[in-house]
Amino acid sequence: MSQRKKFVAGNWKMHTTLAEGRELARAIRAEVENVEGVRIAVIPPFTSVAAVAEVLRGSRIEVGGQDLHWEEKGAFTGEVSAPMLRDAGATVVLVGHSERRQYFGETDESANRKVRAALAAGLSPVLCVGETLDERDAGRTLDVVGRQVRGGLAGLSSAELARVCIAYEPVWAIGTGRTATPEQAQEVHAAVRAILRELGGDVTEAIPILYGGSVKPDNAPALLALSDVDGALVGGASLEASSFSAIVRAAA
Ligand code: PGA
Repeated sequence: MSQRKKFVAGNWKMHTTLAEGRELARAIRAEVENVEGVRIAVIPPFTSVAAVAEVLRGSRIEVGGQDLHWEEKGAFTGEVSAPMLRDAGATVVLVGHSERRQYFGETDESANRKVRAALAAGLSPVLCVGETLDERDAGRTLDVVGRQVRGGLAGLSSAELARVCIAYEPVWAIGTGRTATPEQAQEVHAAVRAILRELGGDVTEAIPILYGGSVKPDNAPALLALSDVDGALVGGASLEASSFSAIVRAAA
């Protein structure tokens, strides 16, 4: 068993009004407040970050942003910076989610700038990586994921690397109800772990590698039991307190 604490994060994507976000955060707080030994975060849309942070104040549940811009401020209409997220109460931020890569032109270079900006502001970046179905079918999974990990983390010092999290999310498993089998997940997680060691040596042992893609209460126990799976990034199932809490408990 690894020494790494399990980390379960709920990515709410473009869901929840302010009232719904507060309500969901309250319900999650009530269900998981007493679960020990798991790092927990909820990641609402930007408009709800501050309100959700307020509801969760004094609890162990962290709040995150779904994306950020790499500059601290400036003429970048529509963007939100790392210091702004910190100011709103966030401690975590997703970077390079496959939906950002697929629909909004995110590249490994932009993800790398965002990882650096997050670290500079004291946020914990969760760098998301994963192959498409075509890439998997062509036998390119480890190449693609390796390139995304190396690109997203390029140029970081060992001390910076130690503060990063990775989420492996096969694109074909996101929101589709298809999950990677434990063998498929373990293979990629072990390969990512090996790249991290190569990049930063011993300090990278602390980096959690989460699995994401249709994680649900029924498949979470088998995935979270894998030696190289250190937690879960949960989309759909994080929008209900009962299913998100069941996944948190499976990690405990
Ligand atoms: P899903 O989303 O759990 O709905 O598949 C996961 C994610 O995109 O982070």
